[in-house]
Amino acid sequence: MYISRQGRSWMMLIILFGVELCAVAAADADGQCDGDGCEERHNAWTSQGECLQERMGWDSFVCVCTASVCDMPGSIPHPQQTDVYTVVTSDRQHHRFHVTHGTMSTAPTGGGHVVHLNTRIAYQQMLGFGGSVTDASGIVFFGLSEAVQDLLIRSYFGADGIAYNIVRTPIGGSDFSKRPYSYDDRPGDVALAHFALAQEDLMYKVPLLKRAQTLAKETSELKIFASPWSPPAWMKNNGRFNGSGSLIPAMRQPYADYIVKFLDEYSSRGLRMWGITTQNEPLAGLQFDVAFNAMVFTAEDMRAWLVENLLPALTAGGHDDLELIISDQGRDHLPHYPAQILAHDELSRRVSGIGIHWYQDTPENLHHLTETRAVLPDYFTLHTEACLGYDSPPTERVKLGDWGRAERYASSIIETSNRGTSGWVDWNLALDLQGGPNWASNFVDSPIIVDTEHDKFYRQPMYYALGHFSKFVARGARAVYMSLLHAPLPGVAASAFLNPDGGVVVVLLNSEETETTVSLQPRMSQEKYINIVLPAKSIQTVLFRAT
Ligand SMILES: *[C@@H]1O[C@H](CO)[C@@H](O)[C@H](O)[C@H]1NC(C)=O
Repeated sequence: MYISRQGRSWMMLIILFGVELCAVAAADADGQCDGDGCEERHNAWTSQGECLQERMGWDSFVCVCTASVCDMPGSIPHPQQTDVYTVVTSDRQHHRFHVTHGTMSTAPTGGGHVVHLNTRIAYQQMLGFGGSVTDASGIVFFGLSEAVQDLLIRSYFGADGIAYNIVRTPIGGSDFSKRPYSYDDRPGDVALAHFALAQEDLMYKVPLLKRAQTLAKETSELKIFASPWSPPAWMKNNGRFNGSGSLIPAMRQPYADYIVKFLDEYSSRGLRMWGITTQNEPLAGLQFDVAFNAMVFTAEDMRAWLVENLLPALTAGGHDDLELIISDQGRDHLPHYPAQILAHDELSRRVSGIGIHWYQDTPENLHHLTETRAVLPDYFTLHTEACLGYDSPPTERVKLGDWGRAERYASSIIETSNRGTSGWVDWNLALDLQGGPNWASNFVDSPIIVDTEHDKFYRQPMYYALGHFSKFVARGARAVYMSLLHAPLPGVAASAFLNPDGGVVVVLLNSEETETTVSLQPRMSQEKYINIVLPAKSIQTVLFRAT
């Protein structure tokens, strides 16, 4: 184990001043700033502490949190004046959310690449960013002490964390459960007389979602959406939770009623769903024998089921405000799968959005995103699931401190945001050291890995990659024009957003092994530039105000 010098001084500061005072204490210790006056200073300085670093054998480090030592990202406000800016940097080598401030220059740095912004050219509106409350996340979360649970959930949903404002949760079990199950495992119970939420809901998912909902209120309303992986096995023609089965036609209405009962049960516990995806990865079973909870739902069958069964059941149950998100699978099925469903008049009015997973992403199918926005412009596209490690050797499902995985996250968020996507939702909020629990042994990585035995958790580089967006891009922000999209700079990717309050957010990813300089020109008509150095292997968020 390696603890950086910075980490050790942190530990001392935290012991001296307590966790809440970290940001102020660090600035004081540097002798460069004392609290509120910080905003006035223009030259680069460090405003807050970063993390207790630990290197675990991969190319970068994790940030450790225990009951006694855990820094929060803290509050990183937008500058209030027009000619100043804030840069937040994370990189492979040194930093996590390292904050500096500067004043705009009258000329671009010599040799630097000039990137023009135009906040008046605005694209899609952003819904937000988040992760998923699975049984596995709940199991590892509640395996921690109260104090560490609090730090973990604040890390995601708190204003001093990365301010997640969307969360996805499975309806019943998924592979990230300890067992396959549904809410009614009594074969033939078409009246759903034995329907009941599972222990997993009552012990893990409901309480975790409620805590997230309360915390998220500090920044915005939490949008919760649910996704079914599989109906009860007896409703399917293969009689199993996994594999390539589909819904038995006579079970269409019982299954619609089953979904509505789930919505009612969660509502009665104070968790009103914002939306549902109508089936997780509906075509996966056509391609392979899925090892975990799954169901094949062709576009044709989905269209019929929605019109004839689910919509009437939702109306009867008082759920007409529920947002319906279709597809919920890889972009290689776009735009055909949703287009077939939306060809129906009633569904074209009732459906809100298209969910997209990243597992089949290639440069060759990237154009499916823009094509979908072009042919189905009335529906938002939302990235509903992503994770890494699923195709790695067993010892590399979880890679503690791997920078490449952070880069993959940042690169996907930039790539999809630049092509009309309104948000990006990660998979499990937290997993154990193995990348589970998962009843089908489909272990994967997570931005937060929990070590319940030692009552601590690790914030992975992926956590910060997501945070570079989620913490700064507000709900209702619009993606805006940036010339980098048309004049690419090799190894550098970026996207830009305009928040509803006039704050501009530019996120830059440098995936090269060398640093490079970029001059952002916020307003084409003014000779003002933000000259920033992009360190090797870094992600940066630049904050300033539009005028
Ligand atoms: C499906 O689940 C059963 C357990 O319920 C398991 O025995 C079987 O191997 C699984 N199928 C696949 C393809 O993994």
